[in-house]
Order: sequence, then structure tokens, then C-alpha cells
Amino acid sequence: MSVLTPSITFNPRIAAMQPSATLAMSGRAKQLRRDGHPVISLSAGEPDFATPAVIAEAGIQAIRDGHTHYTENKGMLDLRQRICRKLERDNGLAYVPDQILCSNGAKQSLALAIAVLCRPGDEVLIPAPYWVSYPEMVRFAGAEPVALPTSVDTDYRLSAEALEAAITDQTRLLIHCSPSNPTGSVYPREELAAMAEVLRRHEQVFVISDEIYEHVIYDAEHVSFASLPGMMERTITVNGFSKCYAMTGWRLGYLAANGEITQTAAKVQSQFSSAPSSITQRAGIAALDMDFAPIREMVAAFRERRDFVLDRLAALDGVRCPKPEGAFYVFPQVSAYYGSTAPSGRHIDNSEDLCFYLLEEHHVALVPGHAFGGPDGIRLSYAASMPDLQEAMNRIEAGLAALR
Ligand SMILES: Cc1ncc(COP(=O)(O)O)c(C=O)c1O
Repeated sequence: MSVLTPSITFNPRIAAMQPSATLAMSGRAKQLRRDGHPVISLSAGEPDFATPAVIAEAGIQAIRDGHTHYTENKGMLDLRQRICRKLERDNGLAYVPDQILCSNGAKQSLALAIAVLCRPGDEVLIPAPYWVSYPEMVRFAGAEPVALPTSVDTDYRLSAEALEAAITDQTRLLIHCSPSNPTGSVYPREELAAMAEVLRRHEQVFVISDEIYEHVIYDAEHVSFASLPGMMERTITVNGFSKCYAMTGWRLGYLAANGEITQTAAKVQSQFSSAPSSITQRAGIAALDMDFAPIREMVAAFRERRDFVLDRLAALDGVRCPKPEGAFYVFPQVSAYYGSTAPSGRHIDNSEDLCFYLLEEHHVALVPGHAFGGPDGIRLSYAASMPDLQEAMNRIEAGLAALR
């Protein structure tokens, strides 16, 4: 007699959701490590630095002081006031605390913004390569993600012309991310101004501006989309503490928006999760109050690593990689190796094959570009120590050189 339980019919929106494409890779990397292989992982999406001590201490102090209860759903007023000051100081954006919603990471802020704005049948423009979660969040909201491919020749940035050409009567939203995960691209002010000019002709289009890598930036200026002429009213600015303050595990992000958007997103949050942890919020206040020196040191280290990785990539046959001006990723184009064969007989037909080859035969974990809608590339995170990066680049070089 069968003891199998009948298969469950899940919500079709959940059934349609793609599992994270990076999981297969990290699962295999873990297994190889367990088997004793010295795998170096350049697949992480988080700084390899500790959370600055002053922030961690504020969290500890919050527990000692008994700040361990629910806070206001939108987040503590003290925190939202500081976020307003930050948005004014760093981004030239004038918001009031009521327009700020703090959430469990920028991821939740993004999911809420997308959920409240998207209606069934709406189209959402997403320049590709994109951060993996955007299309899934859009589909979950019942809308249609429209990937807009960009090229290595334009440093993976979308042109105003391509934006104009993609807008239809159904377009509801553009998801803009600068500095970008996975490419590290930063949009210069003049290109953003040209995009804003296009959007001014299409009043129905909102913008979500994901600025989570704002401070991880090198020789470029970070421009908040909402600060461009006419864009404040229709832009939802999303930011968070994970990347710039090395606080990925604390889970704190926020959105800032005009009109009823924040209130509507807050309504959803009140039913689904409530405010982020009271302890984390206290730590967030300390982050916004602290001296910026530790962040500058972290970014200086990232810059040195970026330059090292770029030099090594430039020496590889058939690999092209723009110089990223932000975040801690490079996204080299590696499609010249598709159609090749390894000495082991393994065929490499796409970014996933190449990543599995480099992982299983050369013990470096990277993320295949197809996961980001950029099938010609791979993502390499340089949030790793210099010795690890040196060894990983030696292995990648040897791995690619062996392909015929
Ligand atoms: C572009 C981008 N946006 C948002 C997030 C979410 O960050 P968190 O939820 O940790 O604040 C990430 C994290 O990887 C990211 O890379």
C-alpha cells in the first residue's frame, strides 16, 4: 500500500515562483567543502567585514535596556527622523518621518513597494542584468516583468532611448538599481537626467530606485533618482543597512515615498510582519549617528580588491569586463568560452555549465549570469580576502586556459 501523501496543490503564484538560482551553486559548493575540497567562494552578496562595533554595542545595549518590545509598525520615530536627515544630507531629498517605512531589510521594502503599486496586467521594466528577486516579486504581485537587456559595451546601463522604446500603455513601473547588483554599474547624472526626461512624458510610470549600495561607490557620484526634476512624486526610494554598514544579518531597510504609497505599504506590513526588530532599530540609529570612517575603510578595501580582480580579468583571453564604479561585484562577459570542452570531457554551453566547471574542477564558486538575466556573463563578488582573491583568480585563469 502506498504511504505517499497526496501531492498538495499550492497557490499558483507560489508554484510559479523560481527558487533562487544561486542555491544550486552554493549547495554544491558546501557539499564539495564537506568532502574536503578547498573551495573559495566568490558568490557572496554581503561584505566580509564585521558590523562596526559601535552599531553592535547599540544592539546589545538595547537588549540590556529592555528595548525588546513591539515598536510602531512603521519603525521608531527616532529612527525615521534620522533617516529623513540622512536623505536630506546625502541625497537632497526632503521627506518627513510619516513618509518613511522601516522593514526587515530592503528586500521587504522592495516587495511591499512592488506589491502595492502593481496591478494585474501591468508591465514592470527591469534593466538586465538585474538583481534576482525583482522579477519574482513582480510576478507575485500579478504583474509582468519586462527585462530590458543592456550590453557590456554600455557598461550594462540602460539608455534613455531604450527606456522610451520599452514603455507601453501597460507600463506601470521601472525598477532602477544604481550602484547595481550584479554589474556594479553606476549611472552618471546626465544619463539619469535623460531617463527622467523620458519619464516626464509618461506620467503613469512610477520608479523604484534601489539605492542599497549607495555608499559602496568609487570614483562616481551617487544620484538619487527622486532628486531629478519631476521625479520625487513618482519615485519610491529604497535603501537599507545591509551592504554599507555590513549589517546583512540585522535585517533593516526602508522605503521613502510620497502620497499614499508609504501608508499603503505600511498597511500591508502591519498585517504581514509588523515593524523590524526593536533591537535592530536601535542599532540602525547608531549606524546613522556614527562616524563614517569604518565605512570609508571598508570601501577603500573593496576598491583595492576591485582593481586587483579587474587587472587579472583583463589578462584573460576572451573575457570582457567593464570597470564597475560601485557595489562589490564584477560581471565579466565570458560567452567566448561557450561551446568549449574541458580536458575532462565536460562541455561548456552556458554560464551555468561554466560556473559548475569552475566550481567542481577548480574549486571557485561564482554565480552564473543567467540567474540575473545576463546569460553571457558570470558574477564574481570581491567581498573576500586578498589571499582568497589571488588564489581564486589563479584557479579561474587555469580553468579557462584549459578549455578548448
Ligand atoms: C540590489 C539589492 N537590493 C536589495 C537587496 C536586499 O538587501 P537586504 O534585504 O539585506 O536589505 C540586495 C541584497 O542582496 C541587493 O543586492
